[in-house]
Amino acid sequence: MKITPSSSYAHLSSQDAVAILDSSYGIAGSVDFLPSERDQNFKVTTEGKDQFVLKIASPFEKERLVDFQDEVLNFLIQGKFPFSIPTPVPDKNGNNIVRFKNQSGQERLIRLVSYIEGERLSEVAHKDGKLIRSLGKSVASLHQTLTTFDEEIPERDGFAWDLTNASKVISANLDYIDNVDQKHLLEKICENLETDIQPILQELPSSLLHNDANDHNILVGPPSAEGRNVLGILDFGDMIYGPSIYDLAISSAYAQMRSNDPLSIITTLVQAYNEVQPLSAAELEVLFPLICARLAVSVSLSATHTHENNTDPYLTVSQQDAWESLHSLGKIHSRLARDLLRDSCGYPPCPNNVKICNWLETHKSDFGPLVKHPLNDCLVFDLSAESSSLPGLDTLTDVDQVTKLLFDKMDDSKSEVGIGRYAEPRLLYASNLYVKTEGDFPERRTIHLGLDLFLPAESPISAPLDGRVHSFKNNDLNLDYGPTIILEHSSEGIRFFSLYGHLSSESLDGLRIGDLVKKGQEFCSLGHYPINGNWPPHLHFQLITDLLDMEGTFPGVAFPSQKDTWLSLSPSPLLMLDLPSDSQFSPTLSVENIQAQREKYLAPSLSLSYKNPLHIVRGWRQNLITDEGQSYLDCVNNVSHIGHCHPEVLKASATQMSLLNTNTRYLNRNITKYCRRLISTLPDPLSVCFLVNSGSEANELAFRMAHAKTGREDLIVVNGGYHGNTGATVAASSYKFEGPGGKGPGPSVFPVIAPDDYQGPFLRDDPKRGERYAQEVKLALKASHDSGTGPSLFICESLLSCGGQIVLPPGYLKAAYKFVREAGGICIADEVQVGFGRVGSHFWGFQTQDVVPDIVTMGKPMGNGHPIGAVVTTPEIAQAFNNGMEYFNTFGGNPVSCSIGIAVLDIIEQANLQAHALEIGNYLLAQLNDLLTRHEQIGDIRGLGLFIGIEIVSNKQEKTPRRDLAKYIVERMKDHGILLSTDGPKDNVIKIKPPLVFDKTDAMRLIQALERILVEDFVVT
Ligand SMILES: Cc1ncc(COP(=O)(O)O)c(C=O)c1O
Repeated sequence: MKITPSSSYAHLSSQDAVAILDSSYGIAGSVDFLPSERDQNFKVTTEGKDQFVLKIASPFEKERLVDFQDEVLNFLIQGKFPFSIPTPVPDKNGNNIVRFKNQSGQERLIRLVSYIEGERLSEVAHKDGKLIRSLGKSVASLHQTLTTFDEEIPERDGFAWDLTNASKVISANLDYIDNVDQKHLLEKICENLETDIQPILQELPSSLLHNDANDHNILVGPPSAEGRNVLGILDFGDMIYGPSIYDLAISSAYAQMRSNDPLSIITTLVQAYNEVQPLSAAELEVLFPLICARLAVSVSLSATHTHENNTDPYLTVSQQDAWESLHSLGKIHSRLARDLLRDSCGYPPCPNNVKICNWLETHKSDFGPLVKHPLNDCLVFDLSAESSSLPGLDTLTDVDQVTKLLFDKMDDSKSEVGIGRYAEPRLLYASNLYVKTEGDFPERRTIHLGLDLFLPAESPISAPLDGRVHSFKNNDLNLDYGPTIILEHSSEGIRFFSLYGHLSSESLDGLRIGDLVKKGQEFCSLGHYPINGNWPPHLHFQLITDLLDMEGTFPGVAFPSQKDTWLSLSPSPLLMLDLPSDSQFSPTLSVENIQAQREKYLAPSLSLSYKNPLHIVRGWRQNLITDEGQSYLDCVNNVSHIGHCHPEVLKASATQMSLLNTNTRYLNRNITKYCRRLISTLPDPLSVCFLVNSGSEANELAFRMAHAKTGREDLIVVNGGYHGNTGATVAASSYKFEGPGGKGPGPSVFPVIAPDDYQGPFLRDDPKRGERYAQEVKLALKASHDSGTGPSLFICESLLSCGGQIVLPPGYLKAAYKFVREAGGICIADEVQVGFGRVGSHFWGFQTQDVVPDIVTMGKPMGNGHPIGAVVTTPEIAQAFNNGMEYFNTFGGNPVSCSIGIAVLDIIEQANLQAHALEIGNYLLAQLNDLLTRHEQIGDIRGLGLFIGIEIVSNKQEKTPRRDLAKYIVERMKDHGILLSTDGPKDNVIKIKPPLVFDKTDAMRLIQALERILVEDFVVT
């Protein structure tokens, strides 16, 4: 077969183009060269700024085909698409085609079409989900309209870009591929096309095709926080008549290029296409191989061009990317890709699954036991991400400990066998073997695809039905299967496999491929650790409907994002074995269900973080873990100060809870010990404690004390400040009363401007800025005096939190406290956010300002998640408050809370968390400051210890707050598995305030992710 040369330029000069525009179209304008494979294209800009594209057809193009393009475009523009296509512009005489003869007398066919604004998809760095879905839907709707065009397309014999010719094009050019691996890859694609794909293609529905929805021909809209849209589809010069699936294959082939997760781009695109134009199972069968085929054609033709010394960059532009794609797609088994695509289109993922499952169900009574003991009433373990019976995550891989725990439980329940559930999401797979390397999110394989039977090592295992040894292998990496056997079973036209993992090494001795294993035959035995992959002794038994050509191994756990596909490849062992019905995991409530119930039963004024909220079921150190066992790095929870679920807190709480929990009207050692410990961290004369249940309650009580001491009611508060959710504290919180739903300050509240030395009137380069901001406090004190009684108190967070992670400028509190005290007021330091060592250099935030407040309020980190708060004050103020009215608090100061509080103080001290906060905080600040120098949108980095803010702005000059960008960054960081949040008066400050166990590796991970996001299109444009 002769392959039509796909490229050849009919070079016209810019002067020719200008002359044609003038003479044929009556258009005066300038022209710029536009890249193209065969046509020669000029972008035309008229004096009135109208834009067109002048297209000079290749001299090899048949005239009828050139004409046909205009006919199709004129037909399409009558359709209703959410995107644009080029509109043909006739010449002065109404002709679609203009003929032009160059100086050597060669004739060129020329057309003019409208110009479509937009960025080429090939230039988009971050292809977001919305864009890919928009592309899928656009290609589908273009396809649907093209099918209604009833004119026949002229023949294009041997057209190289017709995928029907792909195997011929690839083989014809194989000689130009020098690299052996690359050549082998192309040969494999060719073979697959010829043997498996072409016979199916003939049966598929055909239609007129665009045939070139490559990423240079797709125009997309500007980046936005929500994602982009397709604006236009160009270049109808490659149209053919062929199987409709080609257009989807071509757009998928190019859309996934340069992505770090090609398969997820392809499945998203296909799913969106299918929503508009449903795909058949046969089309999905050929889709993935066709995607590879298109890339293979592209690299083959490019190799030819290179061989012919054709240096036009357009012809080889995406070759490196295409090769990289071919290599990464080549690693994916095409039947796995097919099954994932089937799943995304609502088909049962593995086509064999239904037949095999039906067969298993109807033959259930024929199968023999796996082990000697009956299984139907034995102990079923909960090994899920939510299991409360598992130890802390860092001891999960302590095989001695976990083995003892499980086998003790079996002993306790007098169960000979313990069952580990099928389809269960687990945290047990702690090695890097289980982490996804593609994509933003470090997804872990957590979904268990088999059934576990926990039994003593060396227990014999029998075959439940006849089978032949398909393969066996010692998968000897830590936390892998260890010695493994796969049996093949075939009966009545059904073929499936069973896998036996974590065996003894003797089980593989003398085994041969093809050996017959009879039902009931004890053909292997359980291994001990470490030989069995270093697990507690157990059998991993798994059914497999399609082995995907693997030998001696097959994944036993799957990524949650591919769960349905893998569960279809590995159906439930309950189909074969007589097991307790709860041997198969099923979630009690879906995430959607929980959300719906939340909306129904909870107050609407509660908010949820993130566009797609997370269902977190577990915390561990600085990690939050979802129901599917996926871990997120928690960079915002300053409540879990010493790390989520700290074992010492757990111990303190459980021990005291088992003894006594009551109010403070009895003598108890915990409360005195705790108050003594707390007071020892504070300077004199702060020596009297009140224990409460929250930060709000602490502030509310502090206000009462100040009012009692001063006999006045007026409050001086700082703009952006937040002090709690009770009536009095909301009234004192400018963050609330100036925010949505707020009614401004009440008559006794005097707000002062926030001492913000980045956005405020006095900037960081002013050494006197602290005192200047404090002058504002002086003015407010005067206003309070002038309007009535004078001030009762001044409350200020030691570093502003909701106000935008602001570090108070040097000298601020010192001057402000002086003015307040001179005016007879009480100085309250709100340490609810920042106390207990977070700022690194000091235990309390106010100490960084070299002041001693009259009252300190505390909360959040005190109980590491247990609700405790405190007010510590001077004996004098405490006495003034002691006016005869008892202060009673049902829960405040109870023995359990105090016991937890003591444990938290112990750990801060023993683990040196304050010094750690300083070291890691300084490291993080240095790294962030480095990012600041390179990224225009980072206006400011500020913070102390592990209390840090990143202010996101339009640019360093104007400093306009960019809330949308800050929100976008936070959402994208979540995509990378990192949790942050925004705050500040303009909600444009990203807050970093992780549990103090956050370490240098976490800091580096945060910086790397941030760095990647900061160059995404939406951020930089
Ligand atoms: C500075 C500050 N003070 C007080 C509070 C109120 O504490 P709680 O929510 O424990 O009542 C908060 C809570 O965010 C806070 O940030």
